Amino acid sequence: MNLEIYYFSGTGNSLTVAKDIAEKMGGDLISIPSVMDKKSITTDSDVIGIVFPVYYLGTVNIPLVVQRFVMKLDGISTKYIFAVCTFGGGAGSTLTILDEQLKKRGGQLASGFGVQMPQNAFRKPFENKTKLYSNWKDKKLDFICEHVKAKDGWFDTDGLFIGLVVAIIERMMKVGFLNRSSLRSMKKTARLQEDSDLKLDEVIHFMDRSYSTDENCTGCGTCSKVCQVRNIEIVDNKPVWQHHCENCLACIKWCPQSAIHGYGELPGGYHHPDVNILDMLRESD
Ligand SMILES: Cc1cc2nc3c(=O)[nH]c(=O)nc-3n(C[C@H](O)[C@H](O)[C@H](O)COP(=O)(O)O)c2cc1C
Repeated sequence: MNLEIYYFSGTGNSLTVAKDIAEKMGGDLISIPSVMDKKSITTDSDVIGIVFPVYYLGTVNIPLVVQRFVMKLDGISTKYIFAVCTFGGGAGSTLTILDEQLKKRGGQLASGFGVQMPQNAFRKPFENKTKLYSNWKDKKLDFICEHVKAKDGWFDTDGLFIGLVVAIIERMMKVGFLNRSSLRSMKKTARLQEDSDLKLDEVIHFMDRSYSTDENCTGCGTCSKVCQVRNIEIVDNKPVWQHHCENCLACIKWCPQSAIHGYGELPGGYHHPDVNILDMLRESD
């Protein structure tokens, strides 16, 4: 099987998933941001995997850079495409949305899976990280590989109970109330006027306005090197965010001095234990 796995990851959960599948199935691992300078993305592989984290369930769902990547895919009508989304709470309709986007490019999602991983955007009470890691390694990894090998049409995201709760939340989002309040709070974080007419996905790019450094920043530039979308310039030994942020939290979580603060900050800085800083450096550098 000719397999290419494209991934996007801020704190290593999705990278671990992508890496483990690629190793087990003998596929090539390709970072999504590393191919984004191409006008169109084509491949000779007959199987394509797309692995990414769920962001803002019920509103955005798929990281913006992943959405832009899908819109660049060409010649995918005969490909077997599978996706794995990692999430802290639930995947909801994320894979349905991805399927709709792939259809616009002439393809479709053949199979899709959700993998629960530690929540990287906030401290989640009662979260058992060890259990989540072993659930991935001991159960889900083999399960996904078997389905991809069989090239079948399996979809498996949230369990029944979580699925129901998440569906209700997403429904409420669609009705508008939660959507409006989450847009309001994101504008606040992005230091935008409440009456600014930016849409939710445009607001995300400005979330970096809430990022700052403290006196422990040494100007080492790690933040700039792990920012997959080149959103950080180092000026006078300090990071300056360029407002095309994906809000993936990599700069915060991988700062060796824990000197960056902002949205979603978890003291100590979460990252998946199987991933190290070298894995996170931009491929093109
Ligand atoms: C900006 C942002 C928004 C997120 N929104 C959600 C969400 O709506 N639902 C959810 O289950 N997890 C959410 N998460 C958690 C991530 O999906 C989860 O921790 C994921 O495994 C992180 O993957 P990564 O380490 O590859 O970046 C969010 C994380 C971030 C950074």
